[in-house]
Amino acid sequence: MNPRRIWLTGASSGIGAALAELLLQQGHHLALSARSVEPMQALADRYPQQVLVLAGDLSDAAQVRGIGEHIAQAWGALDCAILNAGTCEYVDVCSFEAAMIERVMRANLFSASYCIEAALPLLRLGNRPHLVGVGSSVTFMPLPRAEAYGASKAAMRYLMETLRIDLRAEHIAVTLVSPGFVDTPLTQKNDFAMPMRWPVAKAARHIAERLDQQPVEIAFPGPFIAILKLLGHLPKPLQVTIGARLARTAAKTKDSP
Ligand SMILES: NC(=O)c1ccc[n+]([C@@H]2O[C@H](COP(=O)([O-])OP(=O)(O)OC[C@H]3O[C@@H](n4cnc5c(N)ncnc54)[C@H](OP(=O)(O)O)[C@@H]3O)[C@@H](O)[C@H]2O)c1
Repeated sequence: MNPRRIWLTGASSGIGAALAELLLQQGHHLALSARSVEPMQALADRYPQQVLVLAGDLSDAAQVRGIGEHIAQAWGALDCAILNAGTCEYVDVCSFEAAMIERVMRANLFSASYCIEAALPLLRLGNRPHLVGVGSSVTFMPLPRAEAYGASKAAMRYLMETLRIDLRAEHIAVTLVSPGFVDTPLTQKNDFAMPMRWPVAKAARHIAERLDQQPVEIAFPGPFIAILKLLGHLPKPLQVTIGARLARTAAKTKDSP
């Protein structure tokens, strides 16, 4: 595989850190972004010829612009941008907090759009340019307490799917990654059952093995996605009943010692 120039966000932890390791093993050049420098610097120390550490808060448009300028100076172009940085907060409907929706939208959607603004001019100069956004399987069916996270990832799906249409004439491929549950610091905070949760190394391998084909979507695990899609096609009242039952099961899990 020819080495590619890849900007990977959310590279300090979880899926991003595991994916960075695999892409570096494949010989690619990586610009790594997240707020925590240490884990990214550890990768740079191990792959000094291949890594640019470009730390920053991606929800700050000015910092993202700075990162884009740094990539332009170092490489002059990008072959791939993988927008993986993100967060999750669950809504407590008894004390609904609009500021939380804003926080999650900023971390997941606005940060991705700042990165797209910075990446597109560089992708236009790249080889087989590829824009990759990490969404979530939550978009296949409304799930309890996921109002903020689900809205941000549904918006991410729409953003990537429309960009795919509008960038087709420029031959910039667009892939949406839709993971089910993956064992990362993000999900280790969850207090409910997470069916078919994958180890992070398996998830990263699944993504890395498919990236070069530039598919429209990388969704996994297959059986989990199939079930969610099936549930997502049920009549809405039935979906509400199932969602409410899931919420009750989650509450029981939370209360159990
Ligand atoms: N784990 C799952 O089950 C799962 C399922 C579906 C989708 N996803 C998606 O997969 C992506 C990665 O999640 P993960 O599970 O690997 O979570 P994670 O371990 O918490 O990693 C999240 C990454 O995003 C970075 N990040 C968050 N906010 C940022 C900000 N404002 N500026 C810069 N970097 C920021 C974090 O770095 P710093 O904190 O150092 O900034 C970290 O590197 C997310 O988009 C998530 O929604 C995960």
